[in-house]
Amino acid sequence: MTYIKIKNLKKTYYDDPVTESIRDISLDIEEGEFVTFFGPNGCGKTTMFNVLCGLETDFEGRVTINKKNPEHARVGFVFQNYHDSMFPWRTVIDNVTFGLEMEGVSKAKREQVGNKLLQKVNLWEHHNKFLYQLSGGMKQLTSICRALAFNPDVLLMDEPFSALDYHTSRKMEMELLKIWRENKKTTLFISHEIDEAVLLADRVVVLSKRPAEIKGIVKVDLPRPRTLEMLRDERFYKIRNKVLDLFEDDGGAR
Ligand SMILES: Nc1ncnc2c1ncn2[C@@H]1O[C@H](COP(=O)(O)OP(=O)(O)O)[C@@H](O)[C@H]1O
Ligand SMILES: [Mg+2]
Repeated sequence: MTYIKIKNLKKTYYDDPVTESIRDISLDIEEGEFVTFFGPNGCGKTTMFNVLCGLETDFEGRVTINKKNPEHARVGFVFQNYHDSMFPWRTVIDNVTFGLEMEGVSKAKREQVGNKLLQKVNLWEHHNKFLYQLSGGMKQLTSICRALAFNPDVLLMDEPFSALDYHTSRKMEMELLKIWRENKKTTLFISHEIDEAVLLADRVVVLSKRPAEIKGIVKVDLPRPRTLEMLRDERFYKIRNKVLDLFEDDGGAR
């Protein structure tokens, strides 16, 4: 069943100078699907996410999430930089449950939900720490828990692991897939790491240079659960090459 529908999405910023960010994107995403977006820097990926999470309401085209307009959907957002979404003066558990607190959920219920999520990612022992006491990977895991805590319709992740080193990013990808297997949230994930984009996804959407258009979509038919060993697999390379072919074929540079 189509869960997210993007139809002829266009977005231009009428500043000086005018910036055409998204030229025309149409895409249907199934419930429970894991879709990654791979495209050059500045092509309009974050713009698209801002539309999807209801932050940007001034756009052309039609976007629905679970038949609702984005501003009425429940969207969990994980930013590239945890500073954008987390409060340094709150503890880990109080960051994770912030959304629930805003919704007026009782402290006991909030802590029940937050503790369960933190236990899943082996962070519970740190629940009373402040963010500066955590490693980069732990901070991003905390922000994933925060996004999941209020039971969103969809999870949007904007290059969440890009500030982490190679080893930690791979570890986070495996943690994320473990969570996704359990809750099957429809997940949209922006990545500039081709291995990450392929390893996580059911489909990789390859975007053009700005203004963004879809250059092609590559289905990733590797079995699940995915493992890091798959990075060495010949089938993995075939899929990765398809993504690269689309990415590099810049049919008439803009
Ligand atoms: N609020 C804004 N006002 C004006 N221009 C913007 C705004 N947000 C993004 N842009 C411009 O839109 C283009 C795409 O930006 P963005 O979506 O952040 O790219 P990406 O996430 O793919 O790197 C850039 O040229 C950027 O400068
Ligand atoms: Mg961006």
